Formats: sequence, structure tokens, C-alpha cells
Amino acid sequence: MSLNLTKPNSSFTLCSFLFLVILVVIGLYTVHHLPRNPKNALLFRQLFLSSATNYTVSSYLRSLTSHPHLAGTKPSLETIHYVKTHFQNLGLETHTVPFRTLLSYPLHASVSMLFSNGTVFNLPLNEMGISNYDVSSGLIQPYHAFSPSGTVQGKVVFANHGTEDDYGVLGRMGVKVSGCIVMVKKGDSLGRGAVVEIAEKMGALGVLLYAEGDVSRGSFGFGVERGTVMKGVGDPLTPGWAGVEDGERLELDDNKVAERFPGIPSLPLPFESAQLILESLRGPLAPQRWRDSGRSNLSRVGPGLVMVNLTYEGEKKLATIYNVFAVIRGLEEPDRYVLMGNHRDAWTYGAVDPNSGTAALLDIARRYALLMRKGWKPRRTIIFCSWDAEEFGMIGSTEWVEQNLVNLGAKATAYLNVDCAVQGPGFFAGATPQLDNLIFEVTKKVKDPDSEVATIYDKWKTMNGKSNIERLTGVDSDFAPFLQHAGVPSVDIYYGRDFPVYHTVFDSFNWMINNADPFFWRHVAVAGVWGLLGLHLADDPILPFDYLSYAKQLQEYTDTLSRVLDASISLIPLAASIQELTSAAKQANDETKNLMVLELTDGLLALKIRALNDRLMLAERGFLDTDGIKGKEWFKHLIYGPRSNQRSKLDFFPGISDAIAESTRMSGRDRDATIQHEIWRVARAIQRAAAALRGEVI
Ligand SMILES: *[C@@H]1O[C@H](CO)[C@@H](O)[C@H](O)[C@H]1NC(C)=O
Ligand SMILES: *[C@@H]1O[C@H](CO)[C@@H](O)[C@H](O)[C@H]1NC(C)=O
Ligand SMILES: *[C@@H]1O[C@H](CO)[C@@H](O)[C@H](O)[C@H]1NC(C)=O
Ligand SMILES: *[C@@H]1O[C@H](CO)[C@@H](O)[C@H](O)[C@H]1NC(C)=O
Repeated sequence: MSLNLTKPNSSFTLCSFLFLVILVVIGLYTVHHLPRNPKNALLFRQLFLSSATNYTVSSYLRSLTSHPHLAGTKPSLETIHYVKTHFQNLGLETHTVPFRTLLSYPLHASVSMLFSNGTVFNLPLNEMGISNYDVSSGLIQPYHAFSPSGTVQGKVVFANHGTEDDYGVLGRMGVKVSGCIVMVKKGDSLGRGAVVEIAEKMGALGVLLYAEGDVSRGSFGFGVERGTVMKGVGDPLTPGWAGVEDGERLELDDNKVAERFPGIPSLPLPFESAQLILESLRGPLAPQRWRDSGRSNLSRVGPGLVMVNLTYEGEKKLATIYNVFAVIRGLEEPDRYVLMGNHRDAWTYGAVDPNSGTAALLDIARRYALLMRKGWKPRRTIIFCSWDAEEFGMIGSTEWVEQNLVNLGAKATAYLNVDCAVQGPGFFAGATPQLDNLIFEVTKKVKDPDSEVATIYDKWKTMNGKSNIERLTGVDSDFAPFLQHAGVPSVDIYYGRDFPVYHTVFDSFNWMINNADPFFWRHVAVAGVWGLLGLHLADDPILPFDYLSYAKQLQEYTDTLSRVLDASISLIPLAASIQELTSAAKQANDETKNLMVLELTDGLLALKIRALNDRLMLAERGFLDTDGIKGKEWFKHLIYGPRSNQRSKLDFFPGISDAIAESTRMSGRDRDATIQHEIWRVARAIQRAAAALRGEVI
């Protein structure tokens, strides 16, 4: 019986073994070649959301803010170590990438009032109740990084927010600022660097900058706002290339370096000290709207009665900064990157700026590691980036982008930035427009931290009447090198805005729990949106990019232009290129729909998806122009980037915006030609984007 049965049985075994081998081969093949089961991706996103906890984020923030950690100082090494160890403990592949770059620290500062009777009065420059400033302990006195050293003495003129319009008002009152020290009240319209730059252009000797503060938002008195006044971004000694240890470096007195720094000294002043100077001013009465805030003792604009002596001595020196990375390798497309970044360095304790973002990043890493233990592997590679020296001018991220420009250009699908994650209530987002829809979808999945049932999307919609996505046209966080130099689609999200302790010694863990996020649910909300964006971008078989919203946005910009430009300037090139982008976007959206329903099991589908994804990724690079923006050639993106003239209301197409502002001094024909040329450049950039999206040469 056994004999009889053995034969057929063993041949059956052989057959089924062969059959099994074939099945396994097919199985292995399909596992690696089929788009992943969308149901699993959904389950992992749900697990990501359900694994949110407020106490982890809170404990990360407490550790990160236990001491000041200014870039390049010894105490900052501990913060670097903390972030690195966190990633390593999660079992993530971790890298530390150092750069040697120029930073700037204060040695001595004084501001004194010299009365006509010979009395000299030294104004307090430090924050009330704080005396233990000491670079080596990490806590630094208020100063402007990269301000030149020097002593200036002169009468003071109050120039409101320091805009060119404000100087126009002074001029019409017959007040000249040349040879004077200018006092400026911090406003929203101008950055610190621009305030100093304009004052210098007007012939001022030096600048004193103060903030009104906001007593209604906590009894913290008045901090004094530190910050950089360097022009442009990145290490000034290595413009356009990475500041690696033994690499090329320009000399400090090289023109290319010197032009990055202001020519006149400046200092931030405590509110109380600023009031003493304001009260001493003589000259014409200040316009009513300059006095409207009611907090300043401003009545006359100067020039003063008293002389003021502004003295600043600082040192610019090479320091080592460290970017920390954690990498989760993609399974199917390891050579496509989704980058999630936040800076780590802070002027002081950095509870809001930037470590609310760091705490969220570390929590996303914790939750992604949990997903990995449950079997998740992203389709594309995710890179967590913890930048250094952002406060000095986006130095850590810029050097890294410059170092990795080719790989990023070929492989980076998106950069998701979070800087000051939690500043107060209300959700805000900025993005390049192809990401709008994804942001809307994701905010519909995350609970609003300040309500029981609503989603972030629901609350966001009611906040402004509509959910409004801003554009990344400023140069105020680490998305700048990614978008404006490398053309990587980018996002920037945060809760609240304009927090009163910005860049002051009061930006501490206590301020956070007393004022901005007592139970850390806003942190959890930011991490939720940020982390879900990351999961979609890393896992969606087809990149969730919709270029129709880009085309629509560009059309709105063109409509705005048509209202400000003379009829002698033609917008037809722009309209035609937007038409091309619209039709390429429609085609790409159709292809996406068709590919998503196909059930092909061969490698061809994978290749088709890959090809479409490449087009979706590369379209943004089309907006880059080799020549860059005139006068700021490092900035290559012709849709979003810094504009020189703050008087211009056009916060897009920086080249066109600058041309319009500049050409006011030109004759009719030259003016038209200058503006028209910039319009052609933008039109060609949009055409390049459309061609990249279409994916066909002519
Ligand atoms: C000099 O003038 C200032 C301001 O008016 C005043 O506070 C100070 O007491 C005067 N000093 C002397 C020595 O008169
Ligand atoms: C403004 O002036 C009033 C009246 O002179 C004075 O009491 C107050 O202290 C001044 N405020 C500041 C901030 O100096
Ligand atoms: C201005 O103040 C600085 C520092 O106190 C001092 O060294 C310098 O002599 C003063 N300048 C003038 C012109 O008084
Ligand atoms: C977490 O949230 C709960 C509920 O809001 C709160 O009671 C708790 O204090 C929070 N934990 C931390 C560390 O903030």
C-alpha cells in the first residue's frame, strides 16, 4: 500500500513543489512590482493618527528648551546630541553633517544719551531682570548678527517702520535723516535686514530698532528681539557652494562677502529705552497714524535735542555647525526623497522658535518608527532634517542644498518645512500651489486642537471665510533654499502667528505652556498634518500634485499685473504659457486617473507610473532660471522669491516686481522694455514647467 501510494504521491509532491516555486516567483515579482495595496497605506495613516500623544511632544520640548542653544556655541552641542540620540534610539539611520561657516557674536554694546549740560546717560540694552548673558553659557545679549562694529554719534530721527514710504513722509516734513541715527519701530512690512539697508541708503549713521510688544498677551514685560541683518542666505564666505571643512572660502574683505553685510551699525533696543529717546525728540509733530498704537511716548519725529552714541563691537568668526538627518529608505523608490525639515538652533531657549517644530518632528519620527515595527515601509525615502544656524540666515539648510544640488534636483519630490510650529491659535499654511489640494485633504483628517468635533479644515475655513494657503515668497525659513534655489515643491505650516516673545529670552517652555499650548494639542495637530503630508508624499503611488491649481494661481497673478501695468506692455506671452501649463496639467491629471484604475500586473505599469511621477516632480524645476533674479542671482525661481522693493504690492514674479519698481526712474521706452523682458523670462519659465509636465520634447 505504501509502495502503491508513494509513486503517485511523490510525483504529486514534485508537481506541487514546482507549482509552489512558480507561485512564489510570481508572488515575489508582484510584491516588488505592483503598486502597494492602498488599503494598507490607509491603515498606516490611521495608525499614525491614533498613535498621537501630547506627553511625548511635551517632554521633547522640555528637554530641547532646558538651556539656550545658539548655533556655534558649546551648549548647542547638547541639543544636537539630544536630537541625534532620539533618532538613533528609534533605530533610524542617522547622519550628522558638519559645515564650517561664518557666524557673528557680540562683544560689547552701548547706547548713551548725551545731554547739552554734559550729562551722559547709558540706556539699558538688556532684557529686564536678566543679567547673566554669556556666550559660553549660551545666553546671548540682544544684538544684530553681522552688524559691523563701530561707534556713531548723532541726533535721532524717528522713521516709523523704516519703509521707503516712511522716509518719504519725513522728507515731505523737511526732516533729513542723513547724519542722524534712525529709530525704527518694528512693523510687519519690513524685515530687520531691509530696515537697516534702507536706513543706510538714506544716509543714516546707525539704526536702533525696538518692538512695541503686546501686554495683552502675558505679563512677560518686554523682551528684546535678536536677529540677523545679513543680506541673502547661506554662509557669506562660500556663496553658491558648500562651506565644508577644507573647502574654498572667500576672504572677509572680498567684495562678494562685504556686500552681504550692512555698512552701518544697528542694535535692538528695549521698549523702555526707546521711550526715553522718543520723549527727547524735537522737530515736527509725528503724523497721527504713526502714533496710533498708543503705547509709544512719541510726539515729535526729531531730530532730537540730545545726541545719542551708539557703539557696537562684535566678532565674526568661523564656527562648526551641524545638520542632523534620519533616513527611512523607501522600498520601491529609494531614490526619490520626501524631506521633512525644521531648524534646531535658537536665539535663546527656542520654545516656539524653532523647537515647537523640533518637538513635532521628533514625535513624527517616533510614530513613523512605530509604523515600521508594524510592517510599514514607505514607497519613497523619507529624510528628517534638523538644521543648524537658520537664525543667522538659513545657513545649515543652504549649505546642504548647495552641496547636494544635483541629487536634490533629480530626486527630491517635496520639502515639508515647519519652523515655529506653535505660536498661538489658528492654523496657517504656505505652499507651492500644486500641493494645495493635498493640504486641504489632509487637514480634513486631523482633529482641530481647540474644538471637540471639528477638523482643522473646518476651523480654518471659518477663520478667514476660506481656507487660505499663502505662498512661499518670503525668505524667512529653510524652505527658501529648497524652493527658491533648487525648485523643490515646498510646504510650510504653523499654528498662530506674531507671538510677542519672538527672538527674546522669554521664548521659553513656561511661556509655551502659559500662553500658546498648555496641553500640547496644537503641537499634536501640527505633527498630524505634517506627518500625514509626509505619508501621502512618500506612499501615494502617484504623487498628489495638481498643477491645475498652479496654473490658476499664475492666471490670478497675471490678472493682477494687468491692473497695474500700462497697456503698452503685453501680457500675451504670460497668458499663452499659462495656457500651455493648463493643458499639460489636465493631461497629467487624466493620466493619473487612468493609471490608478489600471490593474496591470506587469512592470510596464510601474514604469509608466514612475515616468508620470518624474514629470510631476520636475515641473516645478521649470520655474528655475539659470540667470536667477537680477541682482540676487542665487535666487533662481522666477515665480517665488525675494523682491527688492518693498513698496511693490506684487509678492510674486520677483523679477517683474523689481523691474516695475526700478523702471519708475526710466523713460517710457526703456521702462516698457525692461518690464517686458522680465515678463518674457517668466513666460519662458512657465513654458519650461509645462514642457516638463508634458514630458515631451517639441
Ligand atoms: C542735565 O539734563 C538732564 C536732562 O534734562 C537732566 O536729567 C540732568 O539732571 C541734568 N544734569 C545736570 C548736572 O544738570
Ligand atoms: C510716557 O510718558 C508718561 C508721562 O510722561 C510716563 O509716565 C511714562 O512712563 C512714559 N512711558 C514710557 C514707556 O516711558
Ligand atoms: C561713545 O561711547 C563709546 C562707548 O562708551 C565711547 O568709547 C566713545 O568714546 C563714545 N564716543 C564719543 C564720540 O563720545
Ligand atoms: C495631555 O492632555 C490631557 C488632556 O487635555 C491633559 O490633562 C494633560 O495634562 C496633557 N499632558 C501634558 C503633558 O500636557
